[in-house]
Amino acid sequence: MSERKEILVSDDDIKKQKEIINQMAVLNRDRYPKFHIETYGCQMNVHDSEKLAGMLTEMGYTHTDNLEDADVILFNTCCVREHAEIRIFGRVSQLKELKQRKPNIILGICGCMMQEKEVVEAIKNDYPYIDIVFGTHNLFKFPELLQESLNSDTTIIDIWDDNKSIVEDIPIRRAEGLKAWVNIIYGCNNFCTYCIVPYVRGREKSREPHDILNEIKSLANEGFKEITLLGQNVNSYGNDLPIKIDFADLLYMINDIDGIERIRFMTSHPKDISDKLIFAMRDLDKLCEHLHLPVQSGSNKILERMNRKYSRERYLEIINKLRDNIPGIAITTDIIVGFPGETDKDFQDTLDLVKEVRYDSAYTFIYSKRKGTPAEKMSNQVDEDIKHKRLEELINLQNIISIEKNNEMKGKVVEVLVEGTSKRDSEKLTGRTRTNKIVHFKAKPELIGKFVNVKIIDTKAWTMQGELISE
Ligand code: SAH
Ligand code: SF4
Ligand code: F3S
Repeated sequence: MSERKEILVSDDDIKKQKEIINQMAVLNRDRYPKFHIETYGCQMNVHDSEKLAGMLTEMGYTHTDNLEDADVILFNTCCVREHAEIRIFGRVSQLKELKQRKPNIILGICGCMMQEKEVVEAIKNDYPYIDIVFGTHNLFKFPELLQESLNSDTTIIDIWDDNKSIVEDIPIRRAEGLKAWVNIIYGCNNFCTYCIVPYVRGREKSREPHDILNEIKSLANEGFKEITLLGQNVNSYGNDLPIKIDFADLLYMINDIDGIERIRFMTSHPKDISDKLIFAMRDLDKLCEHLHLPVQSGSNKILERMNRKYSRERYLEIINKLRDNIPGIAITTDIIVGFPGETDKDFQDTLDLVKEVRYDSAYTFIYSKRKGTPAEKMSNQVDEDIKHKRLEELINLQNIISIEKNNEMKGKVVEVLVEGTSKRDSEKLTGRTRTNKIVHFKAKPELIGKFVNVKIIDTKAWTMQGELISE
């Protein structure tokens, strides 16, 4: 077993991966081995799994949904809340029996959870049947680790503390041919006191604009219509680059790329929303009218304890400015209930803010203690019962608002990018509006991949039903 603490990637390291990919492709030529990846957590992880799938595909593996058929199984993990970790450990335990039955199978675990020392210790001690363990900073090295593991009986462990380099040109196997994720910035410098992400994803690193633009141009050439720019905080884009460029500048450049029709991005930190960005959203035709703007709490005291660096008043000011400049914009958010020190009054402030903003939808979370974060040691941790009651009250309130807001859409005609057939009703197609709402409607499958106009006839909290107006 080896644990390394590299933080810089050399050209030789990268070249080595390419060589191994080629060697493996030759080795696998007549064998048709299969891989299966299970992904937990946010879009960052979903996109990392697309890179793992890309490397495996180039090495001659094909994808399977069925664990039983797989020669390589990867779990790409998330540790943002304790619940996620418990679930993942549960799943990993289930693999033991599979490994006993099929000892040649390669089991790998990677992603954010592996950046926690105690987790790696637990895997070493309690899950010895795992073959490969690696983290978020050395994903590019997966081909080398896989090759090593195929030639070894022990667990290969390779975790880096950080990575100051960005490795470009990792092959990507994207889930579908219409919408694509594109990283623009990695890591996070914000250290919200509840959050583990900066510890497991490292400091902010922006990709060079030409790398981003080239990737999006190739996506456009391949027929992709929509891209979502990814980062823990896309609004810090460019702060660490030697050239003067910010997120809004990047959006102007991307908007000029022919073939791409819709641009989205996530996530935005309210402290960094500039007027320049709001005006870009107003002026750029391809930027969709949707902003995910996590508020976390409506109480100034809690926002301060969370180290969010904005007040409730400033947040509301941004919301008003967005609505004044971008008619019809959908606004969604993340909210945590039960942060240490949250009183009934603080929670009421959150409910009042939700009523005032009237979000289109909200992801709501119960505060979860994360080891090593400042909030873990804070006094006045909130009782579990109270946390659950608050969550329920918040969800009920937001559901009513979501239903009311969607109801206002009835009778309106919206542009929908058709993504596929509906899972529930095979006669229906499904797609999304520019405001990121899901619409189901009856039409022929030839329209998949096209933009159509749909009239909204019925709505629920999360989805809407419509009828096709024009192709
Ligand atoms: N970078 C993004 C999202 C990070 S994680 C952002 O800043 O918005 C996604 C969401 O998980 C956060 O917005 C927060 O609401 C929630 N979250 C993060 N840490 C948490 C914790 N310890 N307990 C509960 N929810 C948490
Ligand atoms: Fe976590 Fe805050 Fe960074 Fe988002 S901005 S990843 S919530 S530390
Ligand atoms: Fe989870 Fe890592 Fe994302 S901790 S939320 S997968 S950055």
